[in-house]
Amino acid sequence: MTIHIGAKPGEIAETVLMPGDPYRAKWAAETFLKDAVCVNQVRGMLGFTGTWNGHRVTIQGSGMGMPSLSIYANELIREYGAKTLIRIGSAGAMLDTVNLRDVVIAMTASTISTPSRGFFKEMQFAPAADFGLLERAVAAARAKGTRIHVGGIYSADVFYDERPDLTEMLARHGVLAVEMEAAELYTVAARHGARALAVLTVSDHLLTHEALPSEDRERSFGDMVEIALGAAFG
Ligand code: ADE
Repeated sequence: MTIHIGAKPGEIAETVLMPGDPYRAKWAAETFLKDAVCVNQVRGMLGFTGTWNGHRVTIQGSGMGMPSLSIYANELIREYGAKTLIRIGSAGAMLDTVNLRDVVIAMTASTISTPSRGFFKEMQFAPAADFGLLERAVAAARAKGTRIHVGGIYSADVFYDERPDLTEMLARHGVLAVEMEAAELYTVAARHGARALAVLTVSDHLLTHEALPSEDRERSFGDMVEIALGAAFG
């Protein structure tokens, strides 16, 4: 047991999918895993371990934002021996070529700041996905026929951003979408020799202000979970 995860030693798999929302962890475990058992309820941040095609996998909520994700990623890797961490979550599109329901596979994640900033000081570390996971996620998405975009994303530390010029500036640099966790996941994984990837479903659009109706979310999020599982075990 750690400060934030109540699982006993051995109850967390080496491969962990990390949605921000603990209820999405429950939904994904019930929908995609066999014999899923709840292994964490501390602070309601649900985690489940089961199997997918015979492979052991944990689906653990990360909470919203990099400070919250950082706690779970650190404890999963350092205390439970997790080796592969894949964020599954939603993102806001920043380019007009990216549509609602598309899946974004994040090659890199730019930030203004992460919880690791104090550690790096003047260094501008470039958080990047594990290439093997990225390659297999692309293959899994192509096999499913899902519309994907592979490239850079922006990990913000505010949802209600008071700087709309940032979107325009990042879009000019080809940044596909914004979310709030991947940069810290990639950084913590790199620091501890683990592999990480973020597979994101576009839930809203910063240019058109459209948002996915809630009844559409399940189907689109399901594609993302299967792509993440394909990346881990493909
Ligand atoms: N996650 C999903 N949509 C987002 C947005 N517009 N900003 C930040 N994170 C998000």
